[in-house]
Amino acid sequence: MRLARAGIFCAGIGFAAFAASPAPAVEPAPASENQAVKRGAYIFDAAGCKACHTDTKKKGPLLAGGRALGTPFGTFYGPNITPDPVTGIGRWSDGDFIRALRSGISPDGDHYYPVFPYTSFTKMTGRDMLDLKAYIFSLPPVKKPNRPHEVKFPFGFRFLLGFWKALHFTPGTFKPDPVKSAELNRGAYLAKALVHCAECHTPRTVTGGLDVSMSMAGTVDGPDGETIPNITPDAATGIGEWDLGDIEFALETGIKLDGDVLGSLMAEVVENGTSRLTAADRRAIALYLKSLAPIDNQVDAEDEDPN
Ligand code: HEC
Ligand code: HEC
Repeated sequence: MRLARAGIFCAGIGFAAFAASPAPAVEPAPASENQAVKRGAYIFDAAGCKACHTDTKKKGPLLAGGRALGTPFGTFYGPNITPDPVTGIGRWSDGDFIRALRSGISPDGDHYYPVFPYTSFTKMTGRDMLDLKAYIFSLPPVKKPNRPHEVKFPFGFRFLLGFWKALHFTPGTFKPDPVKSAELNRGAYLAKALVHCAECHTPRTVTGGLDVSMSMAGTVDGPDGETIPNITPDAATGIGEWDLGDIEFALETGIKLDGDVLGSLMAEVVENGTSRLTAADRRAIALYLKSLAPIDNQVDAEDEDPN
């Protein structure tokens, strides 16, 4: 699959070089560029960029910002990331875009708050980042100034984020594990670099970093103060009873093993994200979830009482 896509990509470049030589008239966008936009749309859905950067509640325009995100450190507002040159990111170079996602650093050299989950996006391949940028830059620009964050003292000082990053952030592309199958590595890449399951499903330490010893084990202090379930394969407190098909079905339709519908933030993840993936990618994510170490962690108070 990857090889086939790479082949199309190279063929596209070859075509563009050939077409450019004999002084062309008005040209359509080269095939490789259209391909990049298409692939970028897929990455965009999987990574859930729309959710935080669109004020869906007020029917705000796509990616023009304004969505409130509640955290223990204050309320943050997703900024405008449309290609508007003044209020959006229209003047950004490829390098600016990659630096933001890979390193959490703005074109002016400021650190970003980790509510922007670059802690996960850092694992994306450079190719996926550039395709994503091509897609975002193909969308309509919207002029809409950013709403300032309401950050609690002392977190308003961005330089403090340098200390936070030193503690909790390791930049770098996802490294496939050569011992594991290509499918399992694909699932891990999707879950870690794109859909960023852990940003919601893993509890945080007092300083706000992910508690890696409790990876995917759920938390009562999730984003927007929500309770997030344990999705490790623990039989009693996690989703050990779900088989691969149950997980794939939930990621496609939002319907859980017990027939209930997934709500709140997960409804968005399914609607904008996992329901739009290929069946093969959903299966890869399910395989990855099944491969995790089970962790005994009861987060849902209702389940504690069997009566
Ligand atoms: C969980 C919410 C969330 C998700 C998901 C998210 N972002 Fe953001 N993003 C933010 C917030 C909040 C900021 C502002 C951070 C700051 O001010 O330090 C931000 C900042 C940015 C910036 C910098 C904008 C600027 O003007 O400096 C870019 C670019 C960006 N995000 C792109 C993306 C892309 C691309 C995706 C999908 C791969 C994405 N974001 C997904 C919340 C999110
Ligand atoms: C933006 C936050 C967020 C992200 C990202 C996220 N989830 Fe969730 N997830 C939730 C919330 C909140 C719930 C609980 C929904 C409910 O109670 O209806 C949930 C529920 C679930 C459930 C149902 C568990 C149960 O016992 O009912 C599964 C399975 C699940 N998520 C898998 C995933 C996977 C796999 C990913 C990544 C591919 C992911 N989630 C990414 C927030 C998130």
